[in-house]
Amino acid sequence: MIEIRDLHKHYDTAAGRVDVLKGINLVVPAGEITAVVGPSGAGKSTLSHCISLLEKPSSGQVLVDGVDLSSLRGKGLRAHRRSIGTIFQNSALLRRMTVAENIALPLRNLGVVHSQMVDRVAELLERVGLSEKANHYPGQLSGGQRQRVGIARALALRPRLLLSDESTSGLDPESTAQILGLLDALRSDLGLAIILITHEMDVVRDVADSVAQLDRGRITEHGALRELVSDRHSQAGGKLLPLKPSGLPANFDYVLTVAYRNSTVDPEWISRLSVDHGARVALLGGSVEAHRDGPLGRVSLGLSGLEPSHAIALLDGWGLAATLAVDPVIEAVERIEVSA
Ligand SMILES: Nc1ncnc2c1ncn2[C@@H]1O[C@H](COP(=O)(O)OP(=O)(O)O)[C@@H](O)[C@H]1O
Ligand SMILES: [Mg+2]
Repeated sequence: MIEIRDLHKHYDTAAGRVDVLKGINLVVPAGEITAVVGPSGAGKSTLSHCISLLEKPSSGQVLVDGVDLSSLRGKGLRAHRRSIGTIFQNSALLRRMTVAENIALPLRNLGVVHSQMVDRVAELLERVGLSEKANHYPGQLSGGQRQRVGIARALALRPRLLLSDESTSGLDPESTAQILGLLDALRSDLGLAIILITHEMDVVRDVADSVAQLDRGRITEHGALRELVSDRHSQAGGKLLPLKPSGLPANFDYVLTVAYRNSTVDPEWISRLSVDHGARVALLGGSVEAHRDGPLGRVSLGLSGLEPSHAIALLDGWGLAATLAVDPVIEAVERIEVSA
């Protein structure tokens, strides 16, 4: 488990003091992937550097399995830093070394004996599916393969936390899917805590358990992926599963926005509304996608023939969070009335 407590980071520049991180609190349990999302300049890379202690936080703590890394110096720090493995955006491999030599580097630096090193490298190559590339050079690999070598190297010293800063940015969809599949397996097989820093919402939706939104140095939203997606006030949720419904057809009464709150929703729920409860239903927009713990979705429905409150209660009982979508015209009129 990793715990970040009240982390601050500022830089003193010629132009004055720049506060980049303003009190970050974040807990990532073992076996969980937390995505950190946010616009460019939000402080994501700075956070990544402070967690891996490439940079010293101005204040606050970084605890891995209860050990406060930010309080350590010298040998103690070097020893404990091993509990954090980092994957970089450009994989940062040494060009003149083979794949196997790149992966062996952290073990060599630690003085691991040769025979053990050879075994460990073979095991890591197998884990990332690149055994047959052991003697290739980075220049002979695709971007996705280089990234997998980077993951193998990050795993060499058996970290408890894997930190990935934009590791899938710039990769083609197939390579991205491979990397995500690998991270997913590492989370389950090794029980790693994973922090996935990215600006790509598809990536987050596919593998994250939780999402933290970073904005101008602060975490503005944080929660389980499913919670954010089913919370209509959540900005991050809206970006994760965007909803662009078409307008309500004239012969329907009202619009419901419906989110999958749990993973056991009956796939026939729309038919049930109609066949069992006499509603007329128009699908106006939305998406339902496979997620590792069941379908994740947000849809917009036009309804008539069923009282809104009754429909909402029914859906609630089926694991669906429904809210009455406010008609923009009515909302505008209400605003005018309130201000008048
Ligand atoms: N060494 C530094 N000195 C001064 N400002 C910095 C330094 N590193 C980053 N910053 C500033 O911190 C902010 C966040 O940068 P960064 O962490 O790279 O954001 P992100 O990764 O979310 O795009 C930016 O405004 C950037 O200019
Ligand atoms: Mg960055």
